[in-house]
Amino acid sequence: MSALRPVLAVASECAPLVKTGGLADVVGALPAALAAQGWAIRTLLPGYRPVLKAVKRPRVAADLPDLMGAPARLLAGTVGGLDLLILDAPALYDRDGSPYLDAQGRDWPDNDARFAALDLAAALIAADGVKGWRPEVVHLHDWQAGFTPWFMRGLGATQPSVMTIHNIAFHGLTGADRLKPLGLPTDGFAMDGFEYYGHISALKAGLTGARVITTVSPTYAQELATEEFGMGLDGVIRARGHDLLGILNGIDTTAWDPTRDPAIRRFSAPGGKVANKRALRAEFGLSQAEGPLCVVVSRLSDQKGLDLLLAALPALTERGGQLALLGSGDRRLENAWLNAAAANPGHVGVRIGYDEGLSHRMFAGADAVLVPSRFEPCGLTQMYGLRYGAVPVVARTGGLADTVIHANAAALAVGCATGLTHRPGDAAALALALTQLCALWADRAVFPRLQRNAMKHPVGWEASAPRYAALYDRLAQERTETR
Ligand code: ADP
Ligand code: GLC
Repeated sequence: MSALRPVLAVASECAPLVKTGGLADVVGALPAALAAQGWAIRTLLPGYRPVLKAVKRPRVAADLPDLMGAPARLLAGTVGGLDLLILDAPALYDRDGSPYLDAQGRDWPDNDARFAALDLAAALIAADGVKGWRPEVVHLHDWQAGFTPWFMRGLGATQPSVMTIHNIAFHGLTGADRLKPLGLPTDGFAMDGFEYYGHISALKAGLTGARVITTVSPTYAQELATEEFGMGLDGVIRARGHDLLGILNGIDTTAWDPTRDPAIRRFSAPGGKVANKRALRAEFGLSQAEGPLCVVVSRLSDQKGLDLLLAALPALTERGGQLALLGSGDRRLENAWLNAAAANPGHVGVRIGYDEGLSHRMFAGADAVLVPSRFEPCGLTQMYGLRYGAVPVVARTGGLADTVIHANAAALAVGCATGLTHRPGDAAALALALTQLCALWADRAVFPRLQRNAMKHPVGWEASAPRYAALYDRLAQERTETR
């Protein structure tokens, strides 16, 4: 018997099983980080094809003959240290495509039902338990888990819930006519519930229904309450200001360890990057150069500000700098970047696609990683950059602002700088930062020191895991006291 206390996590992604972004990394990392703090997380995932395939010999934990009109089962199993509950509902999840989109890149038309069913299953687990296991705390990630507190209420499940916002840009909106088909409580369709301008918002359901709200960096927690960053939910955030907490993400420092990473030529100091840099140049068809080699590893979406980088690119290339970009997403951005590579042969290299191994080789070989996001709840690639001595050049927003120490004169004087920050959403500010990068890079006394500082900066879960644990402790205690 484990002495750890039980938590149910509810999410639509979990690395290494299913991933479209950083959400998966964080959901996949929290169980190990929290186990060391006395909490055992069991993660409920949709039974997508790759998830079912990855779990060897799952056990049937419960039959749900009529989950929102279709038969489903809860399967239990483990994969690489993750303790999983999987909602096996073929009508909802047994299909090709990504978790959210069909092969043509359109949202699945039944996404509301696919994730409402997941939330209902979570509430059933909280209310009835599975095979004697019942969570003390329920931890919800993003809109896909948002209806859970409302279903829990309907079923009389009284455990406290935590709603973590990874990105407030995605609301999980659906029509008001879906109230009945999704089995949502009618009293929830109100200003202080999940009604959003005449529609139903799954994210708002989570924000109004959960006991506590967290987000993935302290700066984003502050930004969320402003009109500029709240994406229409800033009023709800302000109303719940006392229950909102920013806890910075960490990265998996075992998978991202330059001294052990099997995907690279290993190194423990900036000087050890040389062979990786040579290999990276060869891989992207880049020539020798008189400036820094920069990388970008990113979804290509408006959030990431990579259109601004296209505009600012001459500031880098005119000074002998180079760029290797790996990403996929928005077709127009993909084409714009392919054109930029064609226009700058030997200096700009672009790979359209998703490639985990290549991303490791890129951080290992790069002098700098660029993250010019318009907004960034936390961001993980600047932390990979820190760990691999690729100095981050980032927009001063969200978690980017919380993880990078700008190399101004004061920080350079005391020797604590780790990178460069610039005003978000501003191509001219980004161009200036790239100019600064080139100047710092050319100073052989300064740049390796920045890299060493970066490599020493703590980027794991050691600071944040205890904060989640303290939150779970407090909520569980509160519940005992109010019983
Ligand atoms: P977001 O979740 O908004 O996409 P994050 O920086 O939090 O941003 O997380 C993105 C994650 O996805 C990181 O682990 C990053 O390395 C990875 N990633 C993004 N695009 C690619 C790609 N094209 N190839 C490999 N990894 C990628
Ligand atoms: C979201 C955010 C990203 C964050 C990730 C994990 O995808 O866009 O900034 O790092 O979630 O929390």
